[in-house]
Amino acid sequence: MPRCLRLVFASVLPLACAGSSAGTEATGDASSETGAATTGGATSTGATTDAPTTGAPTTGAPNDGLHPIPAEPQRDGDPEAGYHALVNNGYVSCGIPWTAYSQVFDDAPEALRLPGRAGKNATLPYDKTAFVGAGGVELVSANCLQCHAGEIDGELVVGLGNTTADFTVKVGGTAALADLFLTEADEKAELQRFVDRLAAVEPYTQMLTVGVNPADNIAAVLFSHRDPDTFEWFDPPLLDLPPVVVTPVDVPPWWHMKKKHAMFYVAAGRGDHARTMMAAATLCTDDIDEARAIDAYFPDIRAYILTLEPPAYPFAIDAELAAAGSHVFAATCAGCHGTYGAEDTYPNLLVDLDVIGTDAALATEASQFAGRYLDWFNKGFYGEVSRLEPQSGYVAPPLDGIWATAPYLHNGSVPTVAAMLDSTSRPTYWTRSYESTDYDSAALGWKHEALDHGHEGEPSAEVRKKIYDTTQPGYGNGGHTFGDGLDASERLAVIEYLKTL
Ligand code: HEC
Ligand code: HEC
Repeated sequence: MPRCLRLVFASVLPLACAGSSAGTEATGDASSETGAATTGGATSTGATTDAPTTGAPTTGAPNDGLHPIPAEPQRDGDPEAGYHALVNNGYVSCGIPWTAYSQVFDDAPEALRLPGRAGKNATLPYDKTAFVGAGGVELVSANCLQCHAGEIDGELVVGLGNTTADFTVKVGGTAALADLFLTEADEKAELQRFVDRLAAVEPYTQMLTVGVNPADNIAAVLFSHRDPDTFEWFDPPLLDLPPVVVTPVDVPPWWHMKKKHAMFYVAAGRGDHARTMMAAATLCTDDIDEARAIDAYFPDIRAYILTLEPPAYPFAIDAELAAAGSHVFAATCAGCHGTYGAEDTYPNLLVDLDVIGTDAALATEASQFAGRYLDWFNKGFYGEVSRLEPQSGYVAPPLDGIWATAPYLHNGSVPTVAAMLDSTSRPTYWTRSYESTDYDSAALGWKHEALDHGHEGEPSAEVRKKIYDTTQPGYGNGGHTFGDGLDASERLAVIEYLKTL
């Protein structure tokens, strides 16, 4: 259901998803076929014979740095009911009272609306949801699509990660001003509850660069304030809060979930995925019965997510070159990323840090995965069926629709696939327009400008926040050197092939 869009006032109604911190694991219903992916299959291909590169795997031996992630059982759901719930239900259960919202904002333009929405939701933008809260007040909140819908080449795609959201500004924004439009005590109280929640997470959400996402850290803050079994909220936190420096992540596309056995970059999300996917409810759901009611329909939302397909590449493809690229891919890449087309396979591999070599912060020292947050998750309501088990490595993701998901790597530090395949060409400092039509179909990714300086030395805050500075902690762009051993024509061929996925 792609359409043109402009992301608007994203910071007014922020919400938290327990990104990686709330991970569960991959699609279990496929458990029967998962076993195949495991052991040897993946290993052989990783290493191309004539492309030495980094530590690409060459054998199926257990110590080659590749670890298959097993599937686990998942609850079944109804995709149609799931879409309906995704775009109509109040799973982020606090927000701005409708009375105030409707006085400030007009109906959304057609291009920002989604089909299949009921009542007031039919006229709201895709990333906002109106619902009647537990206290009987009609509220408007942000939904999952604030982070999980994005624009590519002028089209809105549900399930594409949002790479333009500005989390360099405070998430509370101007929400408190909505009070000026309210007279009823119950409405004022609801607004205050929402504003207080935003104030609690706000210090822990600030990113250095537009486009990267703090969801994992938000989850850690929310866990800190809640009883893990009853969901009761405590203003003074029960756990030590995370540091305010946030390890950045790029929002992954939803259409990979049909293949993945673990949610999140570090394979943290194990057990029942639907339970973990509802973690955005942790912002406001203060009552365990309400949480159970939300959990009851999340298998449907997961089922919907599993139906998503990537958008097709919209420009011309050189079929002959792509065919040549498929051979290079099979020899150099498929061992980790799987095969595509008729015999689709996906090995679900966790790759050790010394093999992948990408920025280690998320997989080692990320505050959002501190032991106290894992305990909170694993021992309470979430832990009944889900587990958070972050690994010291990164999942080799499926590459379906890879053309549309720039920038690359878990931290969004590499602007194009071409730069992914030649690590020496990656810009240390770069900026882009954040316009989805500024697409580079030759390099496969965002048109960008390499700069001679990073955040230091840039006096303007407005300019600075649009600079991706790979020298900042967590923002590094090294590693994944598996394309370095290819020659220029092989790289061009692989890029052409990737357009077909
Ligand atoms: C504030 C932004 C934000 C919101 C809101 C949000 N998410 Fe996420 N989501 C993320 C980020 C960031 C990640 C990646 C985290 C990681 O891997 O460390 C993620 C990961 C996921 C994944 C795993 C994808 C993968 O390939 O591993 C799923 C599934 C998901 N989210 C579903 C949802 C659902 C369903 C909702 C709404 C109930 C939601 N998210 C709300 C930011 C968000
Ligand atoms: C040894 C396993 C391995 C091999 C071999 C490998 N990759 Fe990867 N690849 C990974 C892992 C792991 C990641 C995620 C790293 C991260 O996010 O830090 C990744 C990430 C990527 C990404 C970015 C995905 C995204 O959404 O950000 C692309 C594109 C990619 N690989 C393409 C290739 C191509 C093309 C080849 C062959 C030339 C290849 N890879 C070979 C393991 C591998």
